[in-house]
Amino acid sequence: MTQLMSQILLPHFVTVEDLNSKQVYNLLERAAYFKNGGRKENFKRQINVANLFFENSTRTKLSFTMAEKKLGLNVFPFAAETSSVQKGESLYDTLLTMSAIGIDLAVIRHPQNNYYQHILEQPGSKLNIGLLNAGDGSGQHPSQCLLDLMTIHEEFGHFNKLKIAIVGDLKNSRVARSNMQLLKKLGADIYFSGPSEWFTSEFNEYGQYLPLDELIPKIDVLMLLRVQHERHEETEAEKNFSEIKYHQQFGLTVARYQKMKSSAIVMHPGPINRGVEMASELVEAPRSRFVRQMTNGVYMRMAMLEAVINGRHIGG
Ligand code: CP
Repeated sequence: MTQLMSQILLPHFVTVEDLNSKQVYNLLERAAYFKNGGRKENFKRQINVANLFFENSTRTKLSFTMAEKKLGLNVFPFAAETSSVQKGESLYDTLLTMSAIGIDLAVIRHPQNNYYQHILEQPGSKLNIGLLNAGDGSGQHPSQCLLDLMTIHEEFGHFNKLKIAIVGDLKNSRVARSNMQLLKKLGADIYFSGPSEWFTSEFNEYGQYLPLDELIPKIDVLMLLRVQHERHEETEAEKNFSEIKYHQQFGLTVARYQKMKSSAIVMHPGPINRGVEMASELVEAPRSRFVRQMTNGVYMRMAMLEAVINGRHIGG
């Protein structure tokens, strides 16, 4: 177990788009250090954090909270439904309030894509708070992406030329967008599958769309996406959505699982629609990494929080 020679310094962690390979490997190394029992030396002062979730969450919210507590941060409760947001206060003014009170870091999940952009670009802003994006609409999900990378790296030790299929509700998926951007940068071969109407032109530059049954025997990683009904429009296709048909055509059935390479792994960001994206009995099957992904999330989020604390020079 080694302490890192170099540290990542990020004033905010809102997207994976700007991360370079060195920073990713640094985060992977640091997360592994924490997972193997490595401890953070005390920060020079108390660091205060609040988790602002304007969309439902189980994993990301609990996992960030666990990571914060493991790092010894002071976690302040915030509930969107009882906050002054309900009186019309904007997200910017909510953060300005928190910053004035002494909150150093805000972990935010929000339904609006790029919600963080206007906050970070506000002219003459007195805001002094580090932002960590816990998911914005269908835009980015940096912590899910990095915990996914950690899980893949633990399995294979590298990303180069790994065949990774991202399957399902691509159009609405911040998990797909974040993962395809970083995995391509790290040398993986990306493929897409699922309903063709959810494969939009933006995905073309990252990988090839192929039928699932063609991909199943040759891929190393099957990354299933949740069908996000809450983001769907009221189209005929949506209204006629059939869980049984989706599972047969695009889901991981037991028959498909049996055709995968013995070294291949199955991933899902959660929450899983059991019997839709994957057969219920495969959720904890030997090749499923669903549980490990959630465990790894705590350690990767510790590494991300630390990177922002370092980037803001508030930890010493
Ligand atoms: N994967 C994920 O973001 O799960 P939650 O919505 O439960 O946080």
